[in-house]
Amino acid sequence: MKNNPLPRLDRSPELRRKLLPYCRLRAGDIWVDRIRGHRVGCLDASNLRDIDSIMSGEWARLAIHDPPYNLGAFERKSIVEFIKWCQAWVSHTHAVLASDSSLYIWIGADQNNGFQPLPDFVLMMRDQSFRPRSLITMRNQRGYGTQKNWMAIRQELLYYVKGNPTFHVDAEYTDIPKIVRGYYKEINGRKTENLERSHSNTIRAGNVWIDIQQVFYRMEENVSGCYAQKPLKCIDRILRASSSSNDLVIDFFAHSGTTLIASEILNRKCFTLDIDPIYTEITIRRLERFRSTGKTGWQNGHPFENDVSDIGLGTTTVPETSFQGRLF
Ligand SMILES: C[S@@+](CC[C@H](N)C(=O)[O-])C[C@H]1O[C@@H](n2cnc3c(N)ncnc32)[C@H](O)[C@@H]1O
Repeated sequence: MKNNPLPRLDRSPELRRKLLPYCRLRAGDIWVDRIRGHRVGCLDASNLRDIDSIMSGEWARLAIHDPPYNLGAFERKSIVEFIKWCQAWVSHTHAVLASDSSLYIWIGADQNNGFQPLPDFVLMMRDQSFRPRSLITMRNQRGYGTQKNWMAIRQELLYYVKGNPTFHVDAEYTDIPKIVRGYYKEINGRKTENLERSHSNTIRAGNVWIDIQQVFYRMEENVSGCYAQKPLKCIDRILRASSSSNDLVIDFFAHSGTTLIASEILNRKCFTLDIDPIYTEITIRRLERFRSTGKTGWQNGHPFENDVSDIGLGTTTVPETSFQGRLF
């Protein structure tokens, strides 16, 4: 089968120029989905007016944010500037979340460039009106940096709450088998082992996730061109634990539109935005493709394949980074 991926869009201004005419949204525009009421905005997360315009008075039950850091726009930003910027969208999030709601934030590091905002971010959050609940680590199978450093294979996910939201504790068992024996208990005079008593052969989700494969080009959900796509499985886990059917979920950094697709699959409504019109277009197209084909991504193709057949940048080879997950 012909492999026809897009290279990383953040590294190709020429390609971006070719794709922009095919993007429906310009700065300030909001696309409204007629079927489930999702919204996709070409908006700035740090601008309260933009947030108000996409929310138009609705309250969200759950926010899942995956901000960029030390990439593109942030290449030359100091940690102090970065944290100040984060504070703005965190405060806007608080303003539009319902009284009992949850906030999840992915915060990683660029260890090549020594950019490690996690401690500063956590300190900044102490002054916000959220209550900290957990620090989750998602461990990747693959990473980078083995030549000069410990391979970077972790992604951190912070979990905060506003008020007292429901947490569906049975929301998901992981794919991690129960392998540690020895938790004995006497039942009706008989000594039993944990495995005999449990409902499942796998463990429930704790705060270290090692059963989620990061997205790479061979997976159906892959969206080539996107450089920081989160796996659907981790967003699905968050949605099941911290929201219910028909709840409104927000994501201020859409990129490949993972939160939107996961919300569509689980019957949630999603309002999402991205400052870049190309990613808002990709997000909308990914939803449209899912609805018409049942596919969650493009695997061997890309979102603009019907518009630009020749992207003029070597379309038949696997891109330089065949692993499309977050390379931090
Ligand atoms: C790390 S990616 C999000 C990945 C996403 N979770 C996914 O699974 O595809 C961050 C995105 O934030 C967008 N972005 C950067 N600055 C922004 C801002 N001020 N407002 C909204 N989006 C912004 C970038 O264009 C990029 O697409």
